[in-house]
Amino acid sequence: MRSHYCGVLNSSLIGETVTLCGWVHRRRDHGGVIFLDMRDRDGIAQVVFDPDTEESFALADSVRSEYVIQVTGLVRARPAGTENADMATGQIEVLGKELVILNKAETPPFQLDDHQQVGEDVRLKYRYVDLRRPEMLNKLRLRSKITSAIRNFLDDNGFLDIETPILTRATPEGARDYLVPSRTHEGQFFALPQSPQLFKQLLMVAGMDRYYQIAKCFRDEDLRADRQPEFTQIDIETSFLDEEQIMAITEKMIRKLFLDIKGVDLGEFPRMPFAEAMERYGSDKPDLRIPLELVEVKELMKSVDFKVFAGPANDPKGRVTALKVPGGAELTRKQIDDYTKYVGIYGAKGLAWIKVNELAKGVEGLQSPIVKFLGDEVSLSLMEAVDAKDGDIVFFGADKAKIVTEALGALRCKLGEDLDLYTCEWAPLWVVDFPMFEEAGDGSLTPLHHPFTAPSCSPEALKSDPESALSRAYDMVLNGCELGGGSIRIHDQTMQQCVFEVLSISAEEQREKFGFLLDALKFGAPPHGGLAFGLDRLVMLMTGASSIREVIAFPKTQSAACVMTAAPGEVSAEQLRELSIRVRKPQPVE
Ligand code: AMO
Ligand code: AMP
Repeated sequence: MRSHYCGVLNSSLIGETVTLCGWVHRRRDHGGVIFLDMRDRDGIAQVVFDPDTEESFALADSVRSEYVIQVTGLVRARPAGTENADMATGQIEVLGKELVILNKAETPPFQLDDHQQVGEDVRLKYRYVDLRRPEMLNKLRLRSKITSAIRNFLDDNGFLDIETPILTRATPEGARDYLVPSRTHEGQFFALPQSPQLFKQLLMVAGMDRYYQIAKCFRDEDLRADRQPEFTQIDIETSFLDEEQIMAITEKMIRKLFLDIKGVDLGEFPRMPFAEAMERYGSDKPDLRIPLELVEVKELMKSVDFKVFAGPANDPKGRVTALKVPGGAELTRKQIDDYTKYVGIYGAKGLAWIKVNELAKGVEGLQSPIVKFLGDEVSLSLMEAVDAKDGDIVFFGADKAKIVTEALGALRCKLGEDLDLYTCEWAPLWVVDFPMFEEAGDGSLTPLHHPFTAPSCSPEALKSDPESALSRAYDMVLNGCELGGGSIRIHDQTMQQCVFEVLSISAEEQREKFGFLLDALKFGAPPHGGLAFGLDRLVMLMTGASSIREVIAFPKTQSAACVMTAAPGEVSAEQLRELSIRVRKPQPVE
C-alpha cells in the first residue's frame, strides 16, 4: 500500500511521486491550504493539499487526529524560509494528490504530544495509543535492536538458544510463585518459572555446553520502578568455564552492546567484594557515579555520653557511620527534616548532623544538635575522621548494622540524585565474594542468591560455619542498578545436600522438591555456571527511562494488574468446576 515510510523522505526524493500510509498527527488549515502532519513508525512528514485537487482537498478537510490515511503525492522542497531544522523531513513536503481514508478514529483519549498531564492508568488502558508516541516507539525499537545484538553475540560465541517450560515446578528465587491449576491432575498446580534456573542446569548435565534464552520469568513480589511481575531475562549458562571466564565473556557482551548501540566505551569493569560495597556504600549494588562514601566512626563513639550513639558503638551487631556531603552546609532545616523522614523508611530512628561553618574556630565553628552531647574532643575528631571542610555537612546514623547500612546507603543515593552529584554518566562494576547465606527475620538462614550457588569452601567448612561462608556468585551493577547476577553452581550431589541441610530443608522435602536435580547430579553433571541479566533493566538504562514499565510494550500496574485487558479477571463457574476449585470470596469489611 505504500512506497515509503513518512520518516525516510528527504531532499533526494524531490520530484518523485510517493505513497504514504499512516496516522493524522495534526491537521492545520492555513488560509485555504490544508497541512497534514502524517505519522508512521519511522517519523512524520508534512503533506499539503491545495484547493486545486478538489476531491482530495475536501477529504483532507474532513480528517481528524489519528485517522488512518493513504496519501499519494509529489515530494517537493519546502518554500524558502519554511524549512524545519528540528524535523528529519523538515526540508521537504509532499504535495498531496490523492487521499484515501483507510479508517476513522474517535477523538483519542489523550493528545499524543501532552501525555505528561495524563495519568499512567489512562496511558496503560489505551496503551496502543500511548505506544504511537515516537518516544515510546523508539524505546521499543531500541529494545529490539538490543535483543538482536545480544542474540548475535551469543550465537557467534557458540551459545545455543533453547526454550524451557513455562508450566513447571517452583524454582526458588526468593519471590512468591504464580500458580496454574491443573485440570487433568485434580488439586495440583503448576508454578510459572521465577527463572529457568534448574532447566538450564539440566541442559548442562545434558551436554549442551553453552545455552542462552531470552526468557520470560514470573515473580509475585512487591513491585517497584525496576520490578515487574512478568519480566524478561537474558539467561545464560555454560559448562567448564570458571567465574573469571563467565564474567569476562558477559562483560565483553555488555561492553560491545554499549559500544555498538550507544557509542559508549564502558571500560574494564572494576570488582568489589560484597563486604566492601556494604561498608563503603551501604549497598550491594553501589552507584559509583556518586562520590560520597560512608565512614565507620564506631571507635570514636564508644565512650560518648550520648546513648543513641554509644549503644550501637558498643554492640558487635551495631554500626555508627558518618556520611559527609561536601557543600552540604547549605541544606535547609526543611531539607534535613525531609532526609530524616526519608531514612525513617529504612527504620532509622533519626538522622544526626553536623554543619561545618568554620573549622578554624574549633567546635564554635560547628552547628549541630548533637555536638553538645558528643563533647568538643569527639566532635572535632569526627570532623578529622571524615576530613570535613568548611561548607560541608556530615550526617550520622547509629543503630543495628543492617538499619544503618540500608538507611545511609539509600540516603547516599538520594543525595546524589537531589544534589546532582554524579561524576560520570556510566559506572559499571562487578560485586563479588557474596556470603552464601543471610539471616532471615526468624533467625534461620536463607540463600543470598539461590540454593544452587556453589560455596567457595568445602562441605565441611560450610557446615561448621555457614554464616562466614562465601559463595562463587557475582552481580553486574550499572549506575546503582543490579543488571544481572549469577554464579558457579553446585555440580556435586553431596555439596548440594549439604546446602539443603544448612537451609534446614528435610530429606523428604529435598526429594519432593528437587529430587530430579539431585538425580541429575548423579548422572555425570559437569562443572557449570552462568548468569542472567534483566533485559528490561538493561533497556531502561540504555534508553534513559525512569521505570521498566516504559520499555515493556504491555506492562502491569503497581498492583500487578493489566488495566487494558482487565486482567486478572473472574472466570466462569464452569471453568472453576473443571479445575475442582472453589473460590472463597473475601468478606466485605463492615
Ligand atoms: P536473579 O534473581 O538475580 O537471578 O535475576 C537476574 C536478573 O533479573 C532481573 N530481575 C528483574 N527484572 C524485573 N523485574 C523483576 N521482578 C526482576 N527480578 C529480577 C534483575 C536480576 O539481576 N537464576 C538466577 C540467575 C543465575 O544465577 O544465573 C536469577 O534469576 O536484573
Ligand atoms: P534526640 O536527642 O533524640 O532529639 O536526637 C538528637 C539528634 O540525634 C537528632 O538530630 C536526631 O535526628 C538524631 N538521632 C536520633 N536517633 C538517631 C540514630 N539512631 N541515628 C542517628 N541519629 C539519630
